[in-house]
Amino acid sequence: MIFKHILMCRPKYFDVVHYKLNSHMLMEKNVNKKLALHQWMSLRDNIERCDVKVDFIKPKKDLVDMVFAANGALIYKNKAIVSKFNADPRKPETLQYFKFFDNKNYETHITSVDFEGAGDGLFSHDKKHLWLGHGFRTFKDSHLEVKSILDDDKLNIHSLELANELWYHLDTCFCPIGHNDVLVYDKAFTKESLHKIYDVYGEHNCILVSDEDASNFACNSISLKNHENSIATIIGNRFTSDLRYKFFDLNYSVVENDMSEFLLSGGSTKCCILDIEKDFDYYEDLFGNKIFPNNENKNNKYYNEDKDYIVGNDMLIHG
Ligand code: ARG
Repeated sequence: MIFKHILMCRPKYFDVVHYKLNSHMLMEKNVNKKLALHQWMSLRDNIERCDVKVDFIKPKKDLVDMVFAANGALIYKNKAIVSKFNADPRKPETLQYFKFFDNKNYETHITSVDFEGAGDGLFSHDKKHLWLGHGFRTFKDSHLEVKSILDDDKLNIHSLELANELWYHLDTCFCPIGHNDVLVYDKAFTKESLHKIYDVYGEHNCILVSDEDASNFACNSISLKNHENSIATIIGNRFTSDLRYKFFDLNYSVVENDMSEFLLSGGSTKCCILDIEKDFDYYEDLFGNKIFPNNENKNNKYYNEDKDYIVGNDMLIHG
């Protein structure tokens, strides 16, 4: 998947303070905040050098994980399914991301059961397939809700079961890149789920990453259009030379951006971005009035500015 329009959140309050929120967060080493900011700014610069539009969401005090924008929502066409966080300390992020998408005229939704956004939802390069992970943070039942919200017969939705707690979000072990290629860490999946991936991509198109690449978060990479002649630029934390050669063979360029401080929290480059590409903003009626197709779906939720909460037919979310 080559991203064209993404969202990022500056790591102003980033820290690792919740022991074992995921199995990488062992808190054996303190986050070097200065270095974290430097790594994030370098990531932003590397991203901005590619052909991509970048928006920023304001970080909120105490929300130490908000930098991981991938978990804010899942976007498809003009719909934003804002995350219902499973991780307790991250629950207040829902309101922040909801406000952002509501303001930008996305049709906003929230599932009734836990769903951690694009961290557990990845599209194939042509957006014909949506891969949804479950097993640790996202509940399987949310997948049916996502399907009914997106309501698109042309989109094939697949559920993948994660089987290894180290790879707790789908975007830590599965990464569609560029055209029809995909990085996969096979040990993260149940056999059945792995075969679902092989069935769609063909086993030969799957780049199986080594244990070393998996631990370097190679599957948490971003692919972006570049100004060179390669298919895409892949930006990740670090790659073994084997994997780098594979990328070159397939005509991808590679950029390594050290993410050591974010790895302490169980995330790397892809976790720090969210694909927010919208298919359309508005259309004009016969009289030239701009019609925003936002909020047409009766099941979606609204942000109430005066009271600073989200209202929907079945829930109320405060900040
Ligand atoms: N510490 C964060 C958490 O446990 C890391 C999130 C990483 N995000 C991702 N999309 N994999 O929620």
